[in-house]
Amino acid sequence: MRRLLVLGATGSIGNTCLRAYSEGLINDTVISGVVAGSSRRIDELGKQFSSPVLLASGKSREEIMSFISCLSPDIALNGVSGIAGLMYTDILIDLGIDIALANKESIVLGGEYILEKAMRKGVRIIPVDSEHSAIHNLLKGHKAERLIITASGGPFVDRKDMTGITAEEALNHPVWKMGPKITVDSATLANKALEVIEASYLFSFPPERIQVTVHRQSVIHSMIESPDGAVYALMSNPDMTLPIVSAINGGDVPPRLVSPLDLSSLTLTFEDWDRERFPMLSLGFEALRKGGFYPAAFASADEVAVNAFLSGEIGFTDIPRVTERTMEEDWSLRATSVDEIMERADRAAAIAEEICRNI
Ligand SMILES: NC(=O)c1ccc[n+]([C@@H]2O[C@H](COP(=O)([O-])OP(=O)(O)OC[C@H]3O[C@@H](n4cnc5c(N)ncnc54)[C@H](OP(=O)(O)O)[C@@H]3O)[C@@H](O)[C@H]2O)c1
Repeated sequence: MRRLLVLGATGSIGNTCLRAYSEGLINDTVISGVVAGSSRRIDELGKQFSSPVLLASGKSREEIMSFISCLSPDIALNGVSGIAGLMYTDILIDLGIDIALANKESIVLGGEYILEKAMRKGVRIIPVDSEHSAIHNLLKGHKAERLIITASGGPFVDRKDMTGITAEEALNHPVWKMGPKITVDSATLANKALEVIEASYLFSFPPERIQVTVHRQSVIHSMIESPDGAVYALMSNPDMTLPIVSAINGGDVPPRLVSPLDLSSLTLTFEDWDRERFPMLSLGFEALRKGGFYPAAFASADEVAVNAFLSGEIGFTDIPRVTERTMEEDWSLRATSVDEIMERADRAAAIAEEICRNI
């Protein structure tokens, strides 16, 4: 029996994983522990899965590491939201535990440092984000010249005037039901920017070989273009159960895990994205091109700005303003440890907070 640790167990990804486990979709596995930030619902989950729980909020790295180490998991799902997820990825690598990784910020901030460290320690990082899971699977069979990442376009894909958008509107995603941070990021296309950065590091593709296309149906999770020009796509009904179970089971997925596609009722569309209305995606590409700590500064500023938007301090169109102004600082130096990464991420967050206060 493998031992599976679920980080971010009370969230959208954690819930989907635990539901899949309860339905017998995850092979020969026991839940070795469940971790959340501050939600007491974790106690119920601990009882339900007869496993130890950790409420991590206010705990030190050493306390968290010692809890995880005692559980001796073989694999962990990292479904923690935001930059906080990086510390967990780093701990799991230190402990030699394979990672089914939903937390994209781990790669956006940790970049080559985290990937090299994982390789050195023999830790496998299997992507859970549906786009990266699709690319990961497509690259098993084909060489790729270009990655084509699909975006649903979010709730404002057709909205002409981006002023006056409320948190309630931004939290109403047309396709996916997810946590608040990623849902707002999907509305600004910052989520796509984070995914482009994550894909660039995970699959070693420079930004000019990554394209984003708006594909409203979210049936194609991503595509790769092979050197001969053929394009391969991974398609399924949108359901995070598939990439989560596939990552944890090592690609071994039970039959009919997601409902089959009804091709007779499908129309698939592709559109370019609007640079003016969605500046966050351009900023993400710029951060990736500049390299160094720019992608992390982008992610840090975005996290601060999204929280400020959700608490009513700034408007929706201020999110790119805060991010762009934070990125005006010099972030060219590459960080060489997780402490250094977190220190600089805190500095970017402090700058973004100051900008929010004066906007
Ligand atoms: N949702 C999706 O469909 C989806 C798809 C692709 C990728 N992702 C990525 O997966 C990650 C999680 O997304 P989500 O939508 O599941 O978020 P979510 O619903 O907001 O859940 C976040 C989870 O993280 C926990 N958490 C927050 N801070 C923590 C900390 N410091 N220590 C331990 N746990 C902490 C939360 O615990 P509390 O409940 O106690 O706050 C909660 O369990 C994000 O990086 C997101 O980009 C999500």
